[in-house]
Amino acid sequence: MIQNVKGTKDLLPEAIAKWQYIQSTLQKISEQYNYEEIRTPIFEKTELFSRSIGEVTDIVNKEMYSFLDKGEESISLRPELTASIARAVMQHSLLRQNPILRFWYFGPFFRYEQPQKGRQRQFHQYGAECIGSRYPESDAEIIALAVNIFNSLGIKDFKLAINSLGNTESRANYRETLIEFLKENENKLSKESQIRLQTNPLRVLDSKAEADIEILNQAPNILNFLDTESRNHFEELLAILDYQGIKYEISSKLVRGLDYYSHTVFEFQSHALGAQNAMGGGGRYDKLFLELGGEETPAVGLALGIERIILIMEEKGLFPNLEKKLDLYIVSLDHSNQKYLISIAEKLRQNGMAVATDLLRRSLKSQMREANKMKANYLIVIGDDEIKTNLLTIKDMRNGEQTQYSLNSIEEFFKKQQ
Ligand code: HAM
Repeated sequence: MIQNVKGTKDLLPEAIAKWQYIQSTLQKISEQYNYEEIRTPIFEKTELFSRSIGEVTDIVNKEMYSFLDKGEESISLRPELTASIARAVMQHSLLRQNPILRFWYFGPFFRYEQPQKGRQRQFHQYGAECIGSRYPESDAEIIALAVNIFNSLGIKDFKLAINSLGNTESRANYRETLIEFLKENENKLSKESQIRLQTNPLRVLDSKAEADIEILNQAPNILNFLDTESRNHFEELLAILDYQGIKYEISSKLVRGLDYYSHTVFEFQSHALGAQNAMGGGGRYDKLFLELGGEETPAVGLALGIERIILIMEEKGLFPNLEKKLDLYIVSLDHSNQKYLISIAEKLRQNGMAVATDLLRRSLKSQMREANKMKANYLIVIGDDEIKTNLLTIKDMRNGEQTQYSLNSIEEFFKKQQ
């Protein structure tokens, strides 16, 4: 038997109920913040991601599903959506119609990572991007949107880690000092950090290796390198969060794995997740549009990992009862009456009811069993007598009550129940 590809998962109907519950919450809250849904293609030109996320990041370097299509063009399955949205905004000149754009999205993403708890090769993100404002109130709006989503889903136990990478100049100054410091300690660093020191030194700060952590505790602090503009942006943002009562922890070593960030970066972390503790993250990307060949456009956004949110909600028992109920099951006593039964079922469905009938020509007993399993509220049994007299008995499965109705008044009966 052919099995699914490693790192992918089938979502069977039982799981889908949970997904639909989360998706409806995400849509509701996005709309409360006046964000509009955007859908872009599942694959893009590879260059879009390498130029935006960064050639030396793990995502582009090791994790992208890239291939040459039949026209010899290098294509990649999207590992994230911020770059695609920036492309779409520029391609359709959306900022000409509106100086501020607010988008949300939901869908599958692809990264060739080692699968483990909360980490898949095809996974799903919800994301929101606020494009056009350089002011900290837009950073605060994105963070508040995420906090609101967690509140609505009942997720309370999380940490918001926040940092500022500053603007290009202050980050360049910091980078130089950090490289100097890391070089002095190079021999003591883990192998991976030694490589990163050459390719992407800021990412060394993210290392979880014990050997590195001790050294990194002595490393220069990026927040001491912020210039006045960068410091003001960060402080204003923190003041808005304080005023809103949004708790955060300043984590000066948080740099995140994508190169397009400047100023604010943040992550929502949960202990319940184990090693992959990030439920979501994001930040400001004021230079991304420029790097993709467009005009400089300030923007900020975030993405949440849906599989990780589901893991937390399952572990903490946060899903409400999502059992779907059936309005009516119509039992057939004699299969020669199928046409009659189907026409009643169709009529009632057109009135908005959920109706099921047997498709396996089973016995009365097995049909009753199925109706019970489907948790039908009502049951109607149809045999020759019912067809002859045009009188149908409706049984309320919740209390056993039975009432007889003429075929004509049956629609009225169910209309009243809805
Ligand atoms: P990211 O941190 O790469 O950011 O991903 C966001 C979230 O997606 C992570 O915190 C995690 O919950 C989830 N995630 C990432 N990789 C996997 C995986 N292999 N399996 C399961 N879940 C995963 C971004 O993607 C940025 N585009 C966020 C952003 C939007 N920044 C600005 N705007």
